[in-house]
Amino acid sequence: MIKLPGLIDPHVHLRDPGATHKEDWDTGTSAALAGGVTMVLAMPNTKPPIFNAETLDLALDAAKQKARCDYAQFLGAGPDNTDWGRHKALPLRAAGLKMYLDQTFGELCLDSMTLWKQHFQHWPKELPLVAHSESRSMAAVILMAAIYDRPVHIAHISLKEEILLIKAAKERGIKVTCEVCPHHLFLTKDDIPSIVGAGLVPAHVGRGEVRPRLATKEDVEALWANLDVIDCFATDHAPHTLAEKDSDNPPPGFPGLETALPLLLTAVSEGRLTINDVLSRMVTNPRRIFNLPEQPEAWVEVDENATYEIRSAEMHSRCGWTPFESWKVKGRVTRVLLHGCEAFKDGKILVEPGFGRNVRA
Ligand code: NCD
Ligand code: ZN
Repeated sequence: MIKLPGLIDPHVHLRDPGATHKEDWDTGTSAALAGGVTMVLAMPNTKPPIFNAETLDLALDAAKQKARCDYAQFLGAGPDNTDWGRHKALPLRAAGLKMYLDQTFGELCLDSMTLWKQHFQHWPKELPLVAHSESRSMAAVILMAAIYDRPVHIAHISLKEEILLIKAAKERGIKVTCEVCPHHLFLTKDDIPSIVGAGLVPAHVGRGEVRPRLATKEDVEALWANLDVIDCFATDHAPHTLAEKDSDNPPPGFPGLETALPLLLTAVSEGRLTINDVLSRMVTNPRRIFNLPEQPEAWVEVDENATYEIRSAEMHSRCGWTPFESWKVKGRVTRVLLHGCEAFKDGKILVEPGFGRNVRA
């Protein structure tokens, strides 16, 4: 049995407000606890999107009622809210600002480089700024970080060209950090046909849709070869129902909160990572990058020798599936403590909705 500090996931989609048939603050934070995650930072591409005081309150009110682990909520960069200097108190209440520079699920994509620049200039320098920026738009974002001399965190990098660009930017002293998702470390695009359903039936290819898309073996190998460039492991937990994934217009996104730690512990057991590699990327680095408080009474107990198969039927997420169904893993979360209370034990959530705290309150 090993004891780890509570993990931080700086990138989750909890769908609340607006799409609670996929997930809500209750089921999403239950999934977090079951995965050993005691603090989540929620993304703003909800319905409505979170981009001002009114919509931030909407999300935080729901979270206050329902969240079972600690949390903060991101604001989204939109076309009409670049004037952050006029809203001094608002940025401080958020996890940070999220800018969508490429097309993905939701309505927050910003096409105009003028808007990118305005958000870069006006969002307070000392508060987190996260960019969904793939490939060439990532190069643009790194240039803006250099020009405006402010930190930027790049979400879910997946390509060899991206990790090499970030490595080069870091070597030049540009204040850029990045995260990688477990699905981009453990899956390639060749795995898409074998992403199966709960009945082990080969799935509709819609299940393989995710942004950024699953990449090539060469890309995945480049991520593993440049582990030192990766600051965080974030799940980008993006639940959609199976019916939606198997429809003619499948939305992109994978759930990930309940599979991240078992997958990473399996890699540790195979000698591909050390436990300290995991803890720096899921505790100390995200805490520093996002300026988060310590959680002194948060612990995760893991049976590092437990070998088992991943089963969506045992999960807490409302979406009801995982791209890792039936994968054999080694390392099981047996017990989670939060604020000194037993929050999860042997598959069961033991704390009530509302137990979680807003870490930006
Ligand atoms: C995310 C979602 O569904 O909200 N989808 C995804 O494929 N990752 C949005 C995002 O993070 O791009
Ligand atoms: Zn995301």
